[in-house]
Amino acid sequence: EKGGYDHFMLKEIYEQPKALRDTIKGRFDENGVNLSEIGIDTELLRKANKVVIVACGTAYHAGLVGKYVIENLARIPVEVDIASEFRYRNPIINKKTLVIVVSQSGETADTLAALREAQSKEAKVLAITNVVGSTIAREADSVLYTWAGPEIAVASTKAYTTQLVAMNIVALALAQCQCALPCSEIKAIAETLKQIPAQVETVLTQADKVKEISEQIKAWNDVFFIGRSIDYAVAMEGSLKLKEISYIHAEAYAAGELKHGTLALITDRIPVIALATQEQVLDKTVSNIQEVKARDAFVIAVAQEGNSEIGKFAEHVLTIPRTHAALTPILAVVPLQLLSYYTAVARECDVDKPRNLAKSVTVE
Ligand code: M6R
Repeated sequence: EKGGYDHFMLKEIYEQPKALRDTIKGRFDENGVNLSEIGIDTELLRKANKVVIVACGTAYHAGLVGKYVIENLARIPVEVDIASEFRYRNPIINKKTLVIVVSQSGETADTLAALREAQSKEAKVLAITNVVGSTIAREADSVLYTWAGPEIAVASTKAYTTQLVAMNIVALALAQCQCALPCSEIKAIAETLKQIPAQVETVLTQADKVKEISEQIKAWNDVFFIGRSIDYAVAMEGSLKLKEISYIHAEAYAAGELKHGTLALITDRIPVIALATQEQVLDKTVSNIQEVKARDAFVIAVAQEGNSEIGKFAEHVLTIPRTHAALTPILAVVPLQLLSYYTAVARECDVDKPRNLAKSVTVE
């Protein structure tokens, strides 16, 4: 059942190209987003003046990426909330708010409660979920399915990357319905998105290199992840994955925030995993990498192909193929998933069933 892989997690990491292809398939046509196929109420896409994304854990991290993508492509303000916080803060939502709940399982208790809270305030709820017939799928007003297939490992991998595809589809659908982008640009981004599954295959070829790096970080008790803009959201996901399965304490910081306190913790050989995929803030990120390097940190960078400068400040550079700025997280998270996986294996952890955790959290 593990298909020759040692663990479900590794199998699911390698299933990502197929999962992504399946999630993209049929969602675009000659006009851009295939609005009749995506499962979202078109009327709502036209009138929404605010988007609120609610989820837990990895799905919440997909929501953080969603904020960047929707705001940048559709120019609609987006709030992202942790589901266990949402209903206790009396959120400001109404009929014109598009509430998006994200849940792989479709059964997470807090996310379901958030959906009900939103509906009680007359907002319409779009669910992004991986399980057909799940409670969240049944109760939501519309559903955009991710087609990742069953995810068995507790650590979420292919569900996350397909959620990122779903976020891009929603962003492009909103942009299309509200005329925020010309049709030609929507189609161009859709074509770029279709390249992503093959590009993930390319990233996966660096697995051996990642495995070697994991041997160098496995003995550490603290690891830092840094990034700017959308890379900060990816840093948070990388950090959660490492904590969850390898039990190494990890923290994610917006790279520019380091010098407001955390830089005090950066000393000789402390691993800092730096995401540097965003061209518009690249020089700023590089200067943050130099700051940690100056404190003798052990820097592992994730950068786009052709970035020759970053190698001067990093022990290791893991590269991702070039793509649209909104799509880099789908590629950049893959080496981080592999790094967590190999580090957990090297530390002899129970990779698929980490201690204290359940795959689906159906209690509050
Ligand atoms: O099924 P859901 O997407 O609602 O689950 C949400 C979180 O419990 C889940 O993503 C969790 O954070 C993962 N174990 C992280 O890998």
